[in-house]
Amino acid sequence: MTTPLSEVPKVRLPHLAAAKAAGEKLTMLTAYDRPTAEIFDLAGIDLLLVGDSMGNAVLGMDNTLPVTLDQMVSATAAVAVGARRAMIVADLPFGTYETGPKQAFRSAARLIKAGANAVKFEGGARVAPQIQHLSQHGIPVMAHLGFTPQSINTLGGNRIQAKDDASAEVLLRDALSVQQAGAFAVVLELMPAQVAARVTAALEIPTIGIGAGAETDGQVLVWTDMAGLDDQAPTFVQRFGDLRAALLQATQAYAAAVRQGTYPDPEHSF
Ligand code: KIV
Repeated sequence: MTTPLSEVPKVRLPHLAAAKAAGEKLTMLTAYDRPTAEIFDLAGIDLLLVGDSMGNAVLGMDNTLPVTLDQMVSATAAVAVGARRAMIVADLPFGTYETGPKQAFRSAARLIKAGANAVKFEGGARVAPQIQHLSQHGIPVMAHLGFTPQSINTLGGNRIQAKDDASAEVLLRDALSVQQAGAFAVVLELMPAQVAARVTAALEIPTIGIGAGAETDGQVLVWTDMAGLDDQAPTFVQRFGDLRAALLQATQAYAAAVRQGTYPDPEHSF
């Protein structure tokens, strides 16, 4: 029997702080719909990220830039139906927060009303006013530093960040400023492991790494990469399954059964 929703203890901000203090690793995966949210929640994933990676992972876009707030709202609502225990963090897409705290609040409020428990957006000191405003008005914010996919055009592609001492210093200062502004956690993407380890040691809030080595307080992956749904994934990704092969096999079996007339059989007919 499934435990009623009201009895499942939800992952909340104090749980994340306690995990960092106890040295327990946090698990995070992207989710863009109800069925995957339900499975990842059942598997005990702590945080579900309704990431704007939805654009390239499932909507067939080249990058995250075309993703709209309406698309994020509808994915967030679907994930909220599937998630019982996991904290839901939803991305503010490109163009919905950069101009200031008011714009960021208006956009974030739509995601919270759709069922998100927190929002994430990219940037360091330059978005500190947005982080502070949202945190002070009831919306927890996860920050995102290192490779920030919405800046792909200025960063010149998917490049490892903070490779030299000067840029590692800037990253550390950005991390301290998002913490100071009130962020409850920060994603560290695509950077040398020792830089992420240094930032993790310097911060009181948890760091969640992606392509940033093993010494962050948690890890996040795009779920289609993690489960092997696509035939290509970034080099830092370990494929923990081969969903592409499993789905292909199921689909071929279905098509063959229909063509042979063995589906539907009497057991599956009224
Ligand atoms: O949108 C996303 O999936 C993300 C992760 C890469 C952290 O922001």
